[in-house]
Amino acid sequence: MFQSTLNKKQFNILHLAGIYIHIPYCRKACHYCDFHFSTHFDTKERMVDALIREIILRKDFFSSPIDTIYLGGGTPSVLSSEELSLIFKSIHQHYALSTTLEITLEANPDDINDDNLSLWRSLGINRLSIGCQTFDDAILIQLNRIHRANDSITAYHMARAKGFDNISIDLMFGLPTQTEQQWIADLELAMSLQPEHISAYGLTIEERTVFGNLHKSGRLTVPGEELQARYYEQMMTMLADKGYIQYEISNFCLPGYKSKHNSSYWNQEKYLGIGPSAHSFDGSNRMWNDANNMTYIKKIESGQVPYTLETLSLKDRANEYIMTALRTKEGITLQKLTEELHYPEEKLRGILPWLVQNGWIEQSSDQISLTSSGKLLADEITLKIFLN
Ligand SMILES: C[S@@+](CC[C@H](N)C(=O)[O-])C[C@H]1O[C@@H](n2cnc3c(N)ncnc32)[C@H](O)[C@@H]1O
Repeated sequence: MFQSTLNKKQFNILHLAGIYIHIPYCRKACHYCDFHFSTHFDTKERMVDALIREIILRKDFFSSPIDTIYLGGGTPSVLSSEELSLIFKSIHQHYALSTTLEITLEANPDDINDDNLSLWRSLGINRLSIGCQTFDDAILIQLNRIHRANDSITAYHMARAKGFDNISIDLMFGLPTQTEQQWIADLELAMSLQPEHISAYGLTIEERTVFGNLHKSGRLTVPGEELQARYYEQMMTMLADKGYIQYEISNFCLPGYKSKHNSSYWNQEKYLGIGPSAHSFDGSNRMWNDANNMTYIKKIESGQVPYTLETLSLKDRANEYIMTALRTKEGITLQKLTEELHYPEEKLRGILPWLVQNGWIEQSSDQISLTSSGKLLADEITLKIFLN
């Protein structure tokens, strides 16, 4: 049943190496966000120096040229031209770079102006990920975003005019007070801009956030699970109608515009994470950097990288593969799961027919992937397939 026509060498045809750089500063704290960031910029200069030191300390991480660089956050667009230039200079000095490098910068609409766009282009940044979230001003205010809908639209057009031909837009749905009409209007506006890529996430209420506290005390109402599922289904239909490919549960692109960087996370490629809270994977170990800005800076200044290391067992690697691959359009390659990662075939035989009969999973030769209704239950299905 799980035989394949593929041979092992064909599993990961495309090997990509990527660097992620975490910029842990934001001008304002969004009420939903629990990513690592600070709104106090007093350590920024020392932080940039520490990031550069870490780039140098870990220069031997890869044995092949870098294919992708991703500056995320936090808000990397808050960096000055000098700070960004120094970071890029150190990468160029210490790493071999591929000739087809994808360099993404997460940029908030309020930081997008003519000078910054020129600088980013001159540094080789060829992909912008713009945090629009919604085009509804009242909801943007509730989210505590610093920008308004018109800022996003103007920023988008400015980036286009400056020659950025690979732009991604971040959207969120299931937001407090967001009606179905508002969500449809957001999608229509986003599609009218014709970005190459759209990432869209259903709101998750995170404990240590303003929304988390409000929700706990019953002072925040958000669309329920059923409504959020409907918003998700609408999005899948509307984006598919406009030619967007859903290549991952939350990510859509026009043909040829997958995020190479994110795809390498989902394909379990090696990646190096620089900066506080950044994660790395070297093929068998996961490392995650300390998430406290001052602790990170001090440790790096003493010549050490403050990370915790975990060597993944075969079971961990199988579970990680299930978790990430199931989210992608291609899904899980069964031969890789059973032969390379030693997942027991009898367990698959026990659960796969049931998942297929319920219409959640589809199987084509050696691949299993989520159907549209399966995508709504992705977490539950992942847990069913996990090894305990
Ligand atoms: C690292 S954040 C981007 C930060 C960027 N500086 C910004 O503010 O737009 C990546 C994306 O994750 C999404 N996100 C963050 N927290 C979320 C949450 N609690 N629920 C759903 N999506 C979330 C947002 O769409 C955000 O743009």
